[in-house]
This record gives sequence, C-alpha cells and structure tokens, in this order.
Amino acid sequence: MRGQMRRFLTLLGVAAWAWACSSAEESTVSEEPILYEASELALVMRKMAAGHEEYKEKFTAGEWDASVLQQWKQQHSKMQSAQPTDPGAIGEEFKVMSAAYVEHMEQVIALVENKASQKEKLEAYNALIETCIGCHQVHCQGPIPRIKKMKLSVDPGGVTP
Ligand code: HEC
Repeated sequence: MRGQMRRFLTLLGVAAWAWACSSAEESTVSEEPILYEASELALVMRKMAAGHEEYKEKFTAGEWDASVLQQWKQQHSKMQSAQPTDPGAIGEEFKVMSAAYVEHMEQVIALVENKASQKEKLEAYNALIETCIGCHQVHCQGPIPRIKKMKLSVDPGGVTP
C-alpha cells in the first residue's frame, strides 16, 4: 500500500512537471496559464526570456548595453537557487549548465566592455543562447522553439534564419 502511494505521488509529480513545461510553451501565445502557480524558477525564466526578446533588435543593430547585461547576470544567476516546479528533476546537470550560462554571460559582458567587434559579440551572445537550449533539451523542451528565436542574426543586415 505504501509503495503504491509513493508511486502515485511520483507519477503526480512527473505529470505536474510535464504540464508546467507544456503550458510554458502555450504561455508564449496566450496569457499566463490559469490553473497552475508558476514556480520561483519559472518566474526567473520568464524574465530572462522577456529580456532577451526585448533587446534582440538593439543587439542585432550593434547597440549593446553593458549595464543591462550586468543586471541580467545578477537577475539570471537567481536560477541557481530558485525553487523549481519539481525539485526532484533538478540535479548536478542543472548546476553545471546554469553555471555555464552565467559564464557565457560574463564573456558577453567582457566583449561589450572591451568594445570587441560586432561579430565576436554576436557569436558569444548566440553561444549564451545555446546554453539555454542545451539545458532545455534536458529539462524542459516546451520553450525551445521560442528560445531559438532569441539568437541574433550573424549576417549583417540579414534576416534570422
Ligand atoms: C540550467 C538550465 C536552464 C537554463 C540555462 C535555462 N533554462 Fe529555462 N527552464 C529551465 C527549467 C528547469 C525550467 C522549468 C522551471 C519550472 O517549471 O520550475 C525552465 C523554464 C523556462 C521557461 C518556462 C517558464 C514558465 O512560464 O513556466 C522559459 C520561457 C524558459 N525557461 C526560457 C529560458 C531562456 C530564454 C533561457 C536562456 C536565456 C533559459 N530558459 C535558460 C532550465 C533552464
């Protein structure tokens, strides 16, 4: 009986996890999902996504802003301690990948501060977005199509493929 109960709770946990991820995908088109309360981590993620989307055009046009990126580094680092929907699904990999994200952010900041070429900045920034995608391939695939669109076009004046 006990084992059965535990199995049921585990299943419930998995279902909640899967649902959080699928509704995350929907939330790009509609407003917030009504039935579930977003976790602390989901809220950090939403802010991250909104920031990258908001600045996409500016960065593509070469209008970088080191102070915005510094702010992001601080805000986005919170993913490392924020409470996820399902703590059981977050492990070592998450730690490694969230640290990689922060490191890539530092690289972009350094390039912006050192006035590196636009091409270098674009490439470093796209590598940063790749870390989002990498982690999402493991943890939560729903938002991947949306995240892919956050990459900047490296071709000057070109359209993002
Ligand atoms: C280290 C792993 C990791 C990285 C890096 C990461 N994510 Fe996430 N993301 C997650 C996890 C795990 C969730 C599920 C959060 C939850 O449900 O508690 C999530 C959820 C989301 C969601 C859905 C939030 C919601 O409304 O439920 C979006 C959108 C998102 N991430 C976008 C991004 C973007 C954009 C980046 C990069 C700028 C990024 N993520 C980087 C692991 C990551």
